[in-house]
Amino acid sequence: MTGNEKIGRLIRKGKVKDVYEADLDRLLFHFTDRVSAFDVVLPSTIPRKGEALCKFAGYWFETLKTPNHMIRVVDKDKMLVKKVEIIPIECVVRGYLYGSFYERVMRKEVSFTGQPVLASKLPEPIFDPTTKYEAKDRPVTREEIISKRWLTEKELRDLEKRSIDLYKQMSKQVAKAGFIMADVKFEFGRDKDGTVLLADSVGPDEFRLWSKDQYKVGESQEAFDKQVVRDWLIQVGYKKQLDEARRRGEKKDPEPPKLPKELVSKVLERYMYAYEKITGRKFD
Ligand SMILES: Nc1ncnc2c1ncn2[C@@H]1O[C@H](COP(=O)(O)OP(=O)(O)O)[C@@H](O)[C@H]1O
Ligand SMILES: [Mg+2]
Repeated sequence: MTGNEKIGRLIRKGKVKDVYEADLDRLLFHFTDRVSAFDVVLPSTIPRKGEALCKFAGYWFETLKTPNHMIRVVDKDKMLVKKVEIIPIECVVRGYLYGSFYERVMRKEVSFTGQPVLASKLPEPIFDPTTKYEAKDRPVTREEIISKRWLTEKELRDLEKRSIDLYKQMSKQVAKAGFIMADVKFEFGRDKDGTVLLADSVGPDEFRLWSKDQYKVGESQEAFDKQVVRDWLIQVGYKKQLDEARRRGEKKDPEPPKLPKELVSKVLERYMYAYEKITGRKFD
């Protein structure tokens, strides 16, 4: 598969994926090497990242027990999927206190019983949905989801159960390979019969993966996912700059920095390592 003319019309350039219309009912996803963090697309690419994401997604869609949109992987970085109508929420499941959830707990925006310790395991995985079609994802309450008619109460309950079950399936699988899945994001959509399918992608852009051996409660964790990039952006001060600009209501996010070469190769190496460990498949 080479020229775009063979794979259909480009209908959407997402932050990470290029989406082509293969025919009336099917889309072709091209997983590009673009990197986004904090909803900003960075000026650097990570060569072969697209391939890693496509392979991971292929693996999860094959092994997770839930109806999903994948038809088949058609190239190293391309996947054919059923077209669905995306449900406009991101179904986040959290098993650990980390990231923006930890920040919200510390700011007392979410109720939390007990001492909030960074990276501690939650007694039970929680469903923590966000908006999808707003410029920046924000946490959304059950009441809002229902009053905006994005989902009925029953649909929301079903999706919550299904998301948590998927998180548990994935946690179990990665645990066998020595990893902890801290959290994950799912998207679902309705096919033309109204069946709700797991859609979009499932991979290192969607979950936080930690090493069991190096796990230490109370500290920030060594990550095998996009967190490496996020951490670097925090370290060089970009995240702070971004937060301040957004707080001031500036329309344009500040220009993100280029990723250093070593970081680019580190991210890919980690994706490949995690892929081989978890799936038992060879990357190449
Ligand atoms: N089966 C599907 N049918 C229609 N749209 C889909 C399907 N799976 C995922 N999508 C949507 O396609 C887009 C994929 O591109 P992505 O790079 O993730 O974009 P974004 O910038 O919105 O995150 C997303 O908006 C996602 O919701
Ligand atoms: Mg996306």
